[in-house]
Amino acid sequence: MSVHKPLPHDTAPLHVTGSARYVDDIPTPANAVHLAFGLSTCAHGEIKNMDLSQVRAADGVIAVLTAADLPHHNDVSPTPLEVEPMLAEREVKYLGQPVFLVIAESHLQARKAAKIGQITYNEKPALLTIEDALAAGEIFEDAPRHYTKGDAESALTAAPKVIEGSMNIGGQEHFYLEGQAALALPQEGGDMVVHSSSQHPTEIQHKVAEAIGVPMHGVRVEVRRMGGGFGGKESQGNALACSCAVAAQLTGRPAKMRYDRDDDMVITGKRHDFRIDYKVGVTEEGRILGLAFEQYCRCGWSLDLSLPVADRAMLHADNAYHLEHVSIRSHRLRTNTQSNTAFRGFGGPQGMVGIERVLDHIAHAVGRDPLEVRRLNYYDAGSPQTTPYHMVVEDFVLDELTDALVVSADYTARRDAIAEWNAQNPLLKRGIALTPVKFGISFTLTHLNQAGALVHVYQDGSIHMNHGGTEMGQGLFQKVAQVAASRFGVTLDKVKITATDTGKVPNTSATAASSGSDLNGMAVKAACDTIRDRIAAFLAEEHQADPATVRFEAGRVLVGGADYSFEDAVHKAYMGRVSLSATGFYKTPKIVWDRIKGTGRPFFYFAYGAAVTEVVIDTLTGENRILRADILHDCGTSLNPALDIGQIEGGYVQGAGWLTMEELVWDDRGALRTHAPSTYKIPAAGDTPPIFNVALWDGANREDTIYRSKAVGEPPLMLGISALMALGDAVAACGDGTVYPALDAPATPERILWAIDRVQA
Ligand code: MTE
Ligand code: MOS
Repeated sequence: MSVHKPLPHDTAPLHVTGSARYVDDIPTPANAVHLAFGLSTCAHGEIKNMDLSQVRAADGVIAVLTAADLPHHNDVSPTPLEVEPMLAEREVKYLGQPVFLVIAESHLQARKAAKIGQITYNEKPALLTIEDALAAGEIFEDAPRHYTKGDAESALTAAPKVIEGSMNIGGQEHFYLEGQAALALPQEGGDMVVHSSSQHPTEIQHKVAEAIGVPMHGVRVEVRRMGGGFGGKESQGNALACSCAVAAQLTGRPAKMRYDRDDDMVITGKRHDFRIDYKVGVTEEGRILGLAFEQYCRCGWSLDLSLPVADRAMLHADNAYHLEHVSIRSHRLRTNTQSNTAFRGFGGPQGMVGIERVLDHIAHAVGRDPLEVRRLNYYDAGSPQTTPYHMVVEDFVLDELTDALVVSADYTARRDAIAEWNAQNPLLKRGIALTPVKFGISFTLTHLNQAGALVHVYQDGSIHMNHGGTEMGQGLFQKVAQVAASRFGVTLDKVKITATDTGKVPNTSATAASSGSDLNGMAVKAACDTIRDRIAAFLAEEHQADPATVRFEAGRVLVGGADYSFEDAVHKAYMGRVSLSATGFYKTPKIVWDRIKGTGRPFFYFAYGAAVTEVVIDTLTGENRILRADILHDCGTSLNPALDIGQIEGGYVQGAGWLTMEELVWDDRGALRTHAPSTYKIPAAGDTPPIFNVALWDGANREDTIYRSKAVGEPPLMLGISALMALGDAVAACGDGTVYPALDAPATPERILWAIDRVQA
């Protein structure tokens, strides 16, 4: 069988030889027009006067559009709850907001012209930070959302020990290697074909249809692959695709738009930054009795996906820990900054950092090893404990998983060795931490948990596979092709992976929430099984055999003593006029969820993992390095161990990068100053831990998922939390142990120095 094999990414050779096609590599028709946005230079203000005459007169400019010139909807919002103008109307809400659209003969001409618009503003006060928005009472929805279980207030009052704190957690730029891009090709009769670097082709189709005033059937969207999405291409591609379609409709020429890296960083939303305040009551041993979280989340100027992101932060405020009495309040704050959006983990990571910080703080307060305190508070697999949202945790594997990791990472002996080492080294200090991950799998918007597929078997026995998922480097297409090959009992080279296409599979959900292989694997399985059953029924009749006894394996079809090659069996079925094409559909079972009340079963199951990270810091400069990381991660029965390990390694490094080195800085005017790799530091190859041991936890998913596998896209990002906690541990070693380091994220060298000052004060 093709599944479970550690096969490489299907287009890895094309990636490394530069021959994989991304949107900007699609041969652009010679008559194409090229687009660029003119951006707001003010974070909040009314447009007083807009003089675009110089822009219109610039070299190569064909047309310049403002909001008033758009023929139909001016709305690129991914949610029906709000209109998000593609081009600002009257008012600008952040610095970098698209205000006008330049259509020119070349990409460079469009970009140059976009810079010379003369716009004046009646500037208004801009709310830039969480504190600004809180002071002004600028929240989305009428009131903060509140999830509770038990009675946190009474538990806190009764607790022998109460610990309070607050933590700032920075945002994160997606830094996909391929920037946002779209290409629109006008068709006969006003139809439009759009190529988009998008995780959500159906959303692009829907938004483009509204922008050019046609039904969805007039728009076909194709996505072969993205050069990374990480959530940044769930909604942020809408503006480019709509602009291209509008320009193509207006000029009758193909239209292409791609953001320059600086524009991409200045225009598009990022991971939500959070402030998390906590108050926790514990026993003398460090067992949590009651816990109250206030989560403050900076959403930016528009709603985008902020509500479900903030929900997911609430849903991960427990992580691996059983909380009997808990209150989680979530404040979704509106600011005059980029509209923050989906980013790997979708709020889950921020919620999880909050509780991991609390566990670390408790351990310091009660003077115990943080791992002991963590384990003391783990869910108890033996009893039906519930999460703060009243879902029973049925599949908790972290006890055994942690046991195994403690041994394989040699945690206890290394902890002692580090303490000894620190006692002898005044300038460099080491730290170590083990943190667990429990991540809920399913979209919390229940209706999104559905998927479709379309499979054709051609008369030569080759298979054409299509589904609604998109490929962004994660290896989804390969995994699902392995499923298809396994259903027919053929080798993988028989299966053609094709681009995602709204004309083949309609009404798809974004490839997001890590659910790509769960949903599309099942949909493809259903389509393959339909065709397989038809072939089996046809051959069984001919051989007077029971169709249930027909077997498809090792490239053969065995029926009633006869043995056909797969190709011959297919050809016979074709000659017998059997349909060899089928759709497949899947919807996730068991999930019910009331997101307002915070009760139900939002997740089909949980994915688990744990990581041990060891770091060293330089106490004079704050510089730091990860020395070693050991990871044990649960992928159920892995569909493809090679791709899963790739996701785990990449996720860990991206998570550690978020919490240790990636820092977004806005100035007082609301201008993002870190808008290029020169000022925004992402982990480089050299930042990979020099010792990096990644292993898969071997255990089938107890839920009936595709071949009992588990989703792997997002959960490993949160393994990177161990790097932040290890840095805190190293900082703690700089003092006498009386002051808690309270290290904020990202733990840049500056923050590490400030924290050292604190513990030494
Ligand atoms: N891996 C790569 N290489 N590139 C990406 O853009 N996105 C992540 C994750 N892994 C991403 C990635 C995110 S945010 C999600 S939700 C999942 O992949 C989506 O794909 P899946 O559902 O197929 O796992
Ligand atoms: Mo991933 S943040 O769900 O695209």
